[in-house]
Order: sequence, then C-alpha cells, then structure tokens
Amino acid sequence: MAATLVLESHSEAQTEALAAALAGMVDAPLVIALSGDLGAGKTAFSRGFVQAMLGERVVVSSPTFAIMQSYVGGAWPVYHFDLYRLAGPEELEAIGADEALFEPDGVALVEWASLAGDWLPQDRLDVMLEITADGLGRRVLFRAAGLVTTQLLHRFRQEYHAG
Ligand SMILES: Nc1ncnc2c1ncn2[C@@H]1O[C@H](COP(=O)(O)OP(=O)(O)O)[C@@H](O)[C@H]1O
Ligand SMILES: [Mg+2]
Repeated sequence: MAATLVLESHSEAQTEALAAALAGMVDAPLVIALSGDLGAGKTAFSRGFVQAMLGERVVVSSPTFAIMQSYVGGAWPVYHFDLYRLAGPEELEAIGADEALFEPDGVALVEWASLAGDWLPQDRLDVMLEITADGLGRRVLFRAAGLVTTQLLHRFRQEYHAG
C-alpha cells in the first residue's frame, strides 16, 4: 500500500495547523520522516504536531544538540529528533533512539531523516517540505509506504479537504 498527497502552506501557522490536524488522527505508532532545506518548516511542522498531541502550548524547538526530545502526557508520546549534527546512524543506537524508531510506542518525528540511513523503518510517513520559488510558500508532500501510514494519509486527505 502506498499513497501521496500534496498540500500548500502559505504561513508558518498554516504548517503548524496541518500538522496539528494530522496529530489528531493518529491511531497507531508511526515514524514521520521530515525532509527539506534549512528553514523549510520541519520544526514548525513538529511544533504544531507536538502541541496538538499534548493539548498545550509547549515550547518546541529543534533538538539539535540533544538529538532527541521526548514529549509525554498526550494521547501518544512524541519523540522529536533533529539529526542535523548526527555523526552517523550508529549514534542513534548509542543514545537509545533505535527503540523509538523501530518499536515505537508513539510517534517519532525525524528532522533530516535521510541522515538516519537504514535506521528508518520502511513503513513510515515521509513529509517533504519545499520552499516555493518566490520564497514565501511551502509545498508539503506526504508519502506513505505501508499499511498504518497509508490509512492515516487517506483519513487525513479526506478530513483536511473537507474541513
Ligand atoms: N508556510 C510556511 N511554513 C513554515 N514555515 C514558514 C512558512 N513560511 C515561512 N516560514 C518561515 O520559515 C521558517 C521555518 O523554520 P523551521 O520550521 O525552523 O525550519 P526547519 O526546521 O525546516 O529548518 C520560519 O522562520 C517560518 O516563519
Ligand atoms: Mg528544524
């Protein structure tokens, strides 16, 4: 099973809102792999997602130095990764992050996901953020490659277009 969806976001608030809408539909653990240039909105997406999951306005910034930041207290725990300074995929095991990625009990949001190499599961939701040519908008491409994520993306597509 596979699915794709392309949306446009015209503001940081809109990117947060679509991530929040997605967070409200999660009904099983999953990995969300975020990619896109610096400033594309990966952290904005993560912030909207975490705040919706926790139901409160927590501060969410790139966990660049910590590599992973956990948020508990919501319907599902959220593990927010920023792999920008990861020395190599093996470092994920060293910090004990392999469990959050391979046997998740919640949602793993992974910025600079490609740096994880083979450490990302095949069944994941890829979210690719692209800065549009005028530099103002963002194109948000979703791609699901497994049962859980494809079903989630189908629900998201229906709800997001309807609402
Ligand atoms: N549509 C948009 N979605 C998200 N961020 C946007 C958008 N338009 C402009 N921005 C700006 O782009 C920057 C995105 O930063 P951030 O989320 O930290 O990116 P990343 O984590 O990908 O490096 C912020 O300064 C934000 O205000
Ligand atoms: Mg970031």
